[in-house]
Amino acid sequence: MIERIEQIRADGQAAIESAGSADALEALRVELLGRSSELTAILRGIGELPGEQRGAVGGAANRAQKQLEQALTERREELVGDELDRRLAGEQVDVTLPGSPLPAPGSLHLVNQTRREIEDVFCGLGYRVAEGPEIEHDYYNFTALNHPPGHPARMVQDTFYVDPASVDSARWDPDRHPASRPSARLGQERSEARPNLPPGPRDVLLHTHTSPMQVRSMELAPPPLRIIVPGSVYRRDNDATHTPMFSQVEGLAVDEGISLADLQGTLLELARAIFGPDREVRLRPHYFPFTEPSVEVDVSCFACGGTGSVGGRRDPLCKGAGWIEILGAGMIDPNVFGFVREFGYDPETVQGFAFGMGIERIAMLKHAVPDLRLFFEGDLRFARQFR
Ligand code: DAH
Repeated sequence: MIERIEQIRADGQAAIESAGSADALEALRVELLGRSSELTAILRGIGELPGEQRGAVGGAANRAQKQLEQALTERREELVGDELDRRLAGEQVDVTLPGSPLPAPGSLHLVNQTRREIEDVFCGLGYRVAEGPEIEHDYYNFTALNHPPGHPARMVQDTFYVDPASVDSARWDPDRHPASRPSARLGQERSEARPNLPPGPRDVLLHTHTSPMQVRSMELAPPPLRIIVPGSVYRRDNDATHTPMFSQVEGLAVDEGISLADLQGTLLELARAIFGPDREVRLRPHYFPFTEPSVEVDVSCFACGGTGSVGGRRDPLCKGAGWIEILGAGMIDPNVFGFVREFGYDPETVQGFAFGMGIERIAMLKHAVPDLRLFFEGDLRFARQFR
């Protein structure tokens, strides 16, 4: 009997030590120590043994039971430890690895890409980026930019006017705007003639160009000044080369001793940075109310290579000219400085240049986009070509 007990213990212990999982171990526990196990039967039967055997058999069976229990406990702990080690090894995270890439989150529209490209060029030249309000005073959009009364640019068909009463004053309040100084108030010359009048039907508009920020930024800081002003502008226009909303970047540099040569060098830098060394640039004399002298800057047409014709026919893009106008520019007219003289801009001592370009036009040239309207139709097949 004692030999049998020893056998059960030895076999049991060996089985326990080689058990590979918590489930296998539990099955062994039932088999070795459960109610219907051989060892339990032996322990139960001790009372029926002859007296002289009871002590030895009982002692051996109890010891065997304890040893098996101990072996089960030890093996269980080992298995739990192994499992933890295995899980830790499997779940190891290397925090120094780069993250897995996010699903493509979309991309910037070509207009915004081009705007940033232009901004980069001028930030590299020491310019600051400033933005102005889209709902603007006639004063900043026209008057202070030396548009005399009756100038064609003021004509109703070019400008979207805004009913001043319809503008949410929480979002647009002329008195709360930092640039809104008494002398620069809405319709200055009008209120001189008719003091204390609220803004009239033609005094508030959607800015037709980004140039109003020339005057606003000069009101905000004395010279020297170097800013560019990206923005959406609005005009009553709609055909293959004009849309009611388009984008511009304005530039303004004011200092003492600035000349037309500085303007020319700056625009050459821009043209080379955006279009590369192959594009030709041409400066033509022109007229703008707020610059004197004024120039128009052209870039050679990408569609016809500057010849004006494609396949023997007149190039429709440049209308046969071989050149496409990309921006207007010039030296700040002293009359404009006259409107901001009190802010440190004495026309006798400071000079400056300004320029304004259409962002879509530049993107069209650079990427051979055939129709301006493609920018605004929202067709993903177009947008995705410029990811
Ligand atoms: N504001 C003009 C326009 O929208 C463009 C322009 C021309 C801007 C000459 C300038 C400039 O700053 O000097 O047509």
